[in-house]
Amino acid sequence: MSLNWTVSARAREMNASAIREILKITERPDIISFAGGLPAPELFPIEALRKACEKVLSTYGPKSQQYSLTMGVLPLREILADRLSKKGLPVTIDNLFITGGSQQGLDLIAKVFLNEGDALLCENPTYLGAIQAFNIMRPKYVTVEMDEQGMIVDQAEEKIKEHNPRFIYVVADFQNPSGITMSLKRRKQLVKLADKYQIPIVDDNPYGELRYVGEHVPSLQSLGKDLVIELGTFSKLVSPGLRIGWGIVSTEITNMFERLKQGADLHTNTFTQYVVYEYIKAGNLDSHIEEIKASYSERRGVMVEALKEHFPEGVRWYEPEGGLFLWVELPEGISATDLLPAAVEQKVAYVPGKPFFPYEDKDNTLRLNFSNAKPDEIREGIKRLGKVFRESVRTLSDKKKDAGQKVT
Ligand SMILES: Cc1ncc(COP(=O)(O)O)c(C=O)c1O
Repeated sequence: MSLNWTVSARAREMNASAIREILKITERPDIISFAGGLPAPELFPIEALRKACEKVLSTYGPKSQQYSLTMGVLPLREILADRLSKKGLPVTIDNLFITGGSQQGLDLIAKVFLNEGDALLCENPTYLGAIQAFNIMRPKYVTVEMDEQGMIVDQAEEKIKEHNPRFIYVVADFQNPSGITMSLKRRKQLVKLADKYQIPIVDDNPYGELRYVGEHVPSLQSLGKDLVIELGTFSKLVSPGLRIGWGIVSTEITNMFERLKQGADLHTNTFTQYVVYEYIKAGNLDSHIEEIKASYSERRGVMVEALKEHFPEGVRWYEPEGGLFLWVELPEGISATDLLPAAVEQKVAYVPGKPFFPYEDKDNTLRLNFSNAKPDEIREGIKRLGKVFRESVRTLSDKKKDAGQKVT
């Protein structure tokens, strides 16, 4: 029976996420996937989490199964505030808000700051999941180009004056999708602008602790304090299935987050919050981060070497200093979207860059994830991709030659 219900315009407008659609294909076991942003499953700390679960049930019993505070359970906020403070962030339990992953943080940000049609300023490209979260408010995206130092902040001031954005959204560390890290100079510049025009900066920071080379850059939050809302998550540090993230926010915003989150889900899963607390308390977190860093660093290196060996001339890429992603630019005129079926035929997948641009269609770009596949699979997958790209570059240059011959 088909139902003939009238749904809201908003619901109708929500396009299926390109990434979700592609992930469906890449779930096939015979495909080497560089598509999702998935951590390595074999590195999930299953044993330590099992112990934490047992500890929670024996220590907290029914309390771990009860409704709890919208802001998050106290022990988790305390241990997290302590950890973040030791890393130089001025955090207390009163401005630490537990979310159902940082994706929920993005949803709350949209609802707190945006009326329908309001503008927000962001990097170009930007995180696709943020676009999805913000789209519910039908915002106008005021995009600022990036170079190897991140958002070109010099270009932002004119746009702020013209469009009056409600907030500035950035992924300053190892951006998803580009892998680029904003330089200290640009961070200072951005904080200055946020202060001058009194616009909050939202720094979405799932990858900051996953640096493999180079020097740590002070976070926007540490530079801008109350001007900056920082979102964090355990998704990439422990596992995404936990669905535990956090926001560092000033007290007024905390109150608004609280009311909005109550309407959405009352609070984040009580049991899981206690599990994460016990996991950290037992001293597991830092050693686990070291372990995944060593592994992801190796995989990043393997991917970079394989790209050098197999990708044809004219294909460029950005080598990230951390995070999970590597950004690739094909020669102008080659569409990464159109090439995806050929790649899937070779049993390898990536995400085309196009959906990460709110407006412009830079369809000659793509994102490769290097955390999920094992080193041997990375070598093989990049070799297969190299073949697809070489053929496409050759076809393009043949076409150009033909066109040139006709013109002359
Ligand atoms: C920049 C960015 N923000 C937010 C998220 C969502 O993370 P979470 O699993 O904490 O909701 C991701 C996930 O890939 C991300 O890359």
